[in-house]
Formats: sequence, C-alpha cells, structure tokens
Amino acid sequence: MSATPPPHAPLAERTVVIIGGSSGIGLEVARRSVAAGACVVLGGRNEDRLAEAARELGPAARWHPVDNTDKQSLAAFFATIDHLDHLFTPAASYRTGPLRELSDEDAESPFVSKFWGQYHAVRHAAPRLSQDGSIVLMSGAASVRPAGPAPAYVACNAAIEGLGRGLAVELAPIRVNVVSPGMIDGNLWSGRPAGIREQAAAHYRDAALLNRLGTEPEVAETVLFLFTNGYMTGSTLYPDGGYALR
Ligand SMILES: NC(=O)c1ccc[n+]([C@@H]2O[C@H](COP(=O)([O-])OP(=O)(O)OC[C@H]3O[C@@H](n4cnc5c(N)ncnc54)[C@H](OP(=O)(O)O)[C@@H]3O)[C@@H](O)[C@H]2O)c1
Repeated sequence: MSATPPPHAPLAERTVVIIGGSSGIGLEVARRSVAAGACVVLGGRNEDRLAEAARELGPAARWHPVDNTDKQSLAAFFATIDHLDHLFTPAASYRTGPLRELSDEDAESPFVSKFWGQYHAVRHAAPRLSQDGSIVLMSGAASVRPAGPAPAYVACNAAIEGLGRGLAVELAPIRVNVVSPGMIDGNLWSGRPAGIREQAAAHYRDAALLNRLGTEPEVAETVLFLFTNGYMTGSTLYPDGGYALR
C-alpha cells in the first residue's frame, strides 16, 4: 500500500521571496507567482530597478534592497520578512575566465556571490520557511558541460547542485531543488557586448540538441513546477535544450 501523497502546494496566498527578482529570470518567476495568487518580496541591489519591477507587478509585490555578497545586508533583508513559503535565489554578480588569466579575486567571485550568496540566503530563510514550502537554487548547465575555459565558474555551479542535495537532506520536509539553465535569450545576455553574445549564441545553437537558446519563461516555468510539486526534492532540472547531452 502506498503512503499518502504529499500535498500539492498551490501558490495562492503564499509568500515567494526572490533575491534577484528585479530583472530576467527572477522577474519572470515573480510575474508568474503573482499571476498564481502569491505575494512576492523582491531583492536586488539597485533600488530603481526593484521599484520599477514592483510597480509592474502591482500591490502583491514589495521589495527591499540586498547585496548577497554582504552577510549584514542579507540579515537586514530577511529581518523584513516574518514568514515565507518559497525562496528563489538567482542573484549573482561574478566574473568568469581562464585559470591562467583571472586575478584571484575574479576567480573567487562566482563562489562569493553565487555559491555563498545562496548559502547564506538559505541560512536566513530556513527558520522562517513553511514546513511545506520550498527553496529553488540557481545553478547553470556549465556545471555539467563547460562552454569554455572558466573552471571556477564551472566548479561553482557543480557545487551549487551539490548544495541543493545537501540542503534537501538537512531541511526536509522543506523541499530544496536546483534549476540549471543553458544559455537564455534574455536580460543577462542582452547586457553583454554584441560580439561576445553572438559568438556564444552561435556556439550554443550548435551544441544544444534543440539548436536554440532558451527563454526566461521556459526557466520560470521550471521554477514554478519545483515550487508547487510536493514530491520534488533534492533534484536538479536542466532547462537547456539538451545542451548537456551533446
Ligand atoms: N541568463 C542565462 O543565460 C543564464 C544561464 C545559466 C545560469 N544563469 C544564472 O541565472 C542568474 C540570473 O540570470 P538572469 O538572466 O535572470 O540575470 P539578470 O537579468 O542579470 O538578473 C540578475 C538579478 O540578480 C540581481 N543581482 C545581481 N547581483 C546581485 C547581488 N550581488 N546581490 C543581490 N542581487 C543581485 C540583479 O539586480 P541588481 O543588479 O540590481 O542587483 C537582478 O535582479 C545568473 O546570474 C546566472 O547565475 C543564467
């Protein structure tokens, strides 16, 4: 006889916290969460961008500035939140490049912001999270298939996927999962120099089984699935068009 299925976790009247919610994938997750009836709390460094995103989302959204490389800033951000049901942490500021070329500070930057930034966010969020709530960490498909010489960035993403499994064990029944996208045609890449962007996109189209870049809505849909499916924990999902396989 099978055990009672875990409850489905609809988003209506839930609180979703998104550190990195003022643009790109995080903002698209915010849009979809609000459309599903949730309240959202947006975090990011730039107050104008946060205010603009919250205006677009309407009264279900509020924001507070945070820099995830600064532990005091993370503590101050979570001090504004009594209780949350879901956490998504796509915020990251880092530099990537070859072992032989990067300064120590640049090489360490993915770990400082993307790894430890998410780790410390979870530390603050965990005591405030619903027992039937969830966490979705942000990784990247470079974890399993490096696109070029950027070993510290590759290792950082692989470490985040390990962190997701470790946290899932420790925090259960709170569910913890990881989303690990391929190259997304969206805000992050549109801000990079055209030459670098086009070269990376051409390489990615060749490398992915589906021969195209992903979209922010496709990644956001994956995150909402992980928020709401009550039996998903300890998993990493790759919305990457089959990039990791080829
Ligand atoms: N887009 C892709 O192709 C892709 C592929 C694989 C993985 N990813 C991962 O997904 C993350 C988000 O991507 P995206 O496309 O949504 O990028 P994005 O549009 O640049 O969004 C990044 C968000 O994080 C915030 N942020 C950046 N650094 C922060 C910090 N130190 N503290 C707090 N907030 C910070 C940004 O606001 P402020 O700048 O105002 O702080 C913004 O809200 C990337 O950093 C990357 O790790 C992206």
